[in-house]
Amino acid sequence: MSTSTRPLGNILVADDNQSARDMLEMMLRTHGYRVFAVADGPQALAVLQQESIDLALIDVVMPGQTGFDVCRAAKELPATRLTPIVLITGLGRVEDRVQGIEAGADDFLNKPVRKEELLARVKSLVRIKRFTDELESAETVVFTLAASIEAKDPYTEGHCDRLSRYSVALGERLGLSQEDLVSLRRGGVVHDIGKVAVPECVLLKPGPLDAHEREQMEAHTVIGARICAPLKSFREVLPIIRWHHERQDGTGYPDHLRSDQIPLTARVLQTVDIYDALTTDRPYRKALSSERAFAILHDEVRRGWWDGTLVNEFEKLRNELPGGWTEQTAVPVLGFPYGSAPGKRDRLTDENELSTGSLRSLL
Ligand SMILES: [Fe+2]
Repeated sequence: MSTSTRPLGNILVADDNQSARDMLEMMLRTHGYRVFAVADGPQALAVLQQESIDLALIDVVMPGQTGFDVCRAAKELPATRLTPIVLITGLGRVEDRVQGIEAGADDFLNKPVRKEELLARVKSLVRIKRFTDELESAETVVFTLAASIEAKDPYTEGHCDRLSRYSVALGERLGLSQEDLVSLRRGGVVHDIGKVAVPECVLLKPGPLDAHEREQMEAHTVIGARICAPLKSFREVLPIIRWHHERQDGTGYPDHLRSDQIPLTARVLQTVDIYDALTTDRPYRKALSSERAFAILHDEVRRGWWDGTLVNEFEKLRNELPGGWTEQTAVPVLGFPYGSAPGKRDRLTDENELSTGSLRSLL
C-alpha cells in the first residue's frame, strides 16, 4: 500500500455491476489510486470530461451505452481522446476485442479481473498517460506562444487559421501524406514563432526596414526552429519554420536554398502565406482580389522566386472551391482543436512583402 498522500493516478471505473465495481475500486484504492466509480456510460463520459482522468476501466456490457459506445465517444472528443481506455470483456471473446479495437480501446482485461494483471496494466498505462500529458503541455505552450505573437498585431485576424487550412487543402491536392498534412497544419500556426525575439518597433514598423532591422526580422526563421527543436513531435515542422522564406533562385533566407532544396511542405506554406498576405487588408492598402494576387504570384514565379507548380495548383484549388475555405479539416493538432486558435492577423507575410520590394511598389 502506498504511503504517499498524493494518488498515483486518477482512475475511472465504469461497471453497472456494483460488486464488480466495488472490487475494482477497493483494489485500486488500496494501491494508492484515486477512483471515480460510476454505473453507466453517460456518467463515465461526464467524469472523463470533468475530471483529470489518467485511465478508464470500462465494462463492455452495460445497459444503454455500452463500453464500446463510451470508448468511441471518448476517443472522438479532443479533451479525452488521449486518455487510455481499458475495456473489461467476458472471457477473451474475440468479437469483443475486434469491436473494442475499432472503438479505439487501448487495452483489454478479461473477466474475472486478476489483481496482479490489473495493477500491472494500470501502472503501465498511467505512466504512458503522464508522458503524453507532458508532451501535450509542451506543445500547448508552443501554440499559445505563437498565438500571443500574432496578437501583437491587432490589424487583422485569423491568419494562422486560414494559413493552416489553405496549406492542408493544397497538401491534400498534391497527395501529401497524413504526416505532412499534420506538419502543415501545425506549421500554419507556429511558423513565425521566432518573431518573439523581434523587437516590436521592428515587427510593427509601417515603413521599410533598414539593414539592421531586416536582419532582426529575418532571424525569426532560425530562432523559431530553435524554439521548437526540443519537441520531437515537431521534427517535421522545423523545415517549414526555418525555410518558409527561401526562394527558388536562392535569394531567400536564411540559408539561400534553391528549388528542390527547399522542402515541399515549406514551399506549400510559403505559397499560401503570400496569397493570404495579398488578399487581406494591410495598414497601407486594402485587400487585393484573388485574381490580382495570383497575377502577382505568377509574376514572381517568372522572376524565379516561387514554385510555379504550387502556385498553379493553388490557383486551381482556389477557383474550384471559391466558398470552400470555411470547411473544417480533420487533420488534428494536439492542444489546438481546429478553429480554437486565438489567432490575430500577423505580420509574417508583411515581411515577405517587404522582402519582395516589387510587391510594395505594386501596392
Ligand atoms: Fe515568416
